[in-house]
Amino acid sequence: MNTKRKQIFAGNWKMYTTQREAVNLALGIAEGLQKTDREIVIFPPSVYVVCVKAACEGTPIKVGFQNMYFEKEGAFTGEIGPLMVKDTGASYVLIGHSERRHIFGETDEMIHKKVVAAIAHGITPMLCVGELLEEREAGKSESTVETQIVKAFEGLTAEDALKVVIAYEPVWAIGTGKVATPEIAQSMHAFIRKTLQTLYTDTVAETIPVLYGGSVKPDNIAGLYAMPDIDGVLVGGASLKVQSFLDIIRVAL
Ligand code: 13P
Repeated sequence: MNTKRKQIFAGNWKMYTTQREAVNLALGIAEGLQKTDREIVIFPPSVYVVCVKAACEGTPIKVGFQNMYFEKEGAFTGEIGPLMVKDTGASYVLIGHSERRHIFGETDEMIHKKVVAAIAHGITPMLCVGELLEEREAGKSESTVETQIVKAFEGLTAEDALKVVIAYEPVWAIGTGKVATPEIAQSMHAFIRKTLQTLYTDTVAETIPVLYGGSVKPDNIAGLYAMPDIDGVLVGGASLKVQSFLDIIRVAL
């Protein structure tokens, strides 16, 4: 935590919840939220974004999509484009989540185009990066994440780079219960900042929020959030229950 930077607490609901559960979850979070100057963002399944957004009306909760295609519109059956995302009033989009990269084969090039499209349409891209277990074991965590960042930011001006939020999610920690230690997470976050400094400037590196994701729970958030380069969290499983998500957010109050 470094209060000079924006602090963000985000919940990625992945492919879970019914419509009723999604609305109730959003209402429950809104009701339990105390005054906070932290940004709270929820990413429901895309079909529920509109009703979840309506449920969050008048609350500080922001709503985002879990994915988005990069073309404005066209014959792209099954895809959701940036104009549609904008039209729902959503303000964030997850880009390059590890499940998109590794299950659906998204490449760094596609991810780059999605980042550019989000910025062009005034949607905040939450760019996810992170290494596989094999890459960590082979000592390639930093080079993997560096490549993901360099390719995603390719050609972006410093002004546009400042519109991106990064989530470091080591793939081996996602849904496994094996959270990164605060020290491992801190060292990767510091490395991400160093990469941004090389690409841009000290200011860009010091301003972009970098969140941690991967098995974040109420009982491990405090150690992670105490780290100087961790500016919040992107939570999967523990964001599907009102109480556990609120308990995670409360650490920042
Ligand atoms: P878990 O918190 O369930 O490990 O998921 C993390 C994640 O992928 C958030 O995007």
